[in-house]
Amino acid sequence: MEVIILKDADEVAEGGARRVCALIRQNRNAVLGLATGTTPVAMYGKLISACRIGEISFSEVTTFNLDEYLGLAPDHPQSYRSFMQRQLFEHIDIDTDNTYLPTCRAGTDPETVCRLYEEQIKSVGGIDMQILGIGSNGHIGFNEPMSSLASRTRVKTLSEHTVADNSRLFEPNEYQPSLAITMGVATIMEARRILLLATGPHKARAVREMIEGSVTSRCPASALQLHQRVTVLLDEAAGSELESQGYYKRAHEQNTELLGASNF
Ligand code: GLP
Repeated sequence: MEVIILKDADEVAEGGARRVCALIRQNRNAVLGLATGTTPVAMYGKLISACRIGEISFSEVTTFNLDEYLGLAPDHPQSYRSFMQRQLFEHIDIDTDNTYLPTCRAGTDPETVCRLYEEQIKSVGGIDMQILGIGSNGHIGFNEPMSSLASRTRVKTLSEHTVADNSRLFEPNEYQPSLAITMGVATIMEARRILLLATGPHKARAVREMIEGSVTSRCPASALQLHQRVTVLLDEAAGSELESQGYYKRAHEQNTELLGASNF
């Protein structure tokens, strides 16, 4: 796991965008795994700018989002489909037909949606780079603590912790779903590369458990220790509880010297 501690959230967004741009420049047909939440929004802003000035094009890119609420229509303002439209898709040159979320429309069987999602990911040859955030309880996607590390795309009950964390995004009295369809931990682990972003002091504990704790379903993000190509971009606050901060900083400096800033 490559751990990079940067000054602030803007540097994290910049570092994330640089890596995604490098991937797309290398492969116009890249398959990107996307995440919702507040964390990747600034990075999406930088990708939008890069697309506007013609530095990259999403015209041949395919995307798969990690998760979607169950029980919200895709055009509901709080659905992750609407979120992605607002934060990214409607500002770039992507073909919306190539943007996938595990959406379960009214009257559709959720298990069929989950099975189909796995098949769709396989049919395009898998995900080249999966973007992740991390929940303050260590979840990735909506794989809550105690999720099987072998899990595939499925329906998950959200923990009280997550419902409370995400309540800030809903109006008081607005219906907030407590079920979602999420890629499983094993689905995420099949991505060829993983780029996890975390910012803010409220993520520091989960980040420490993910990187320096034991591999355990208590912290689903800790499964990433078993993946060969994970880059974690942190701001100072999110990295503040790591024991080996000095080591990560030195290793990053040396890697940059050896491989150059173009390394992604
Ligand atoms: C949600 C999403 C996760 C995301 C997490 C953190 O629960 N399902 O994919 O990583 O929130 O969100 P934030 O970036 O807003 O802290």
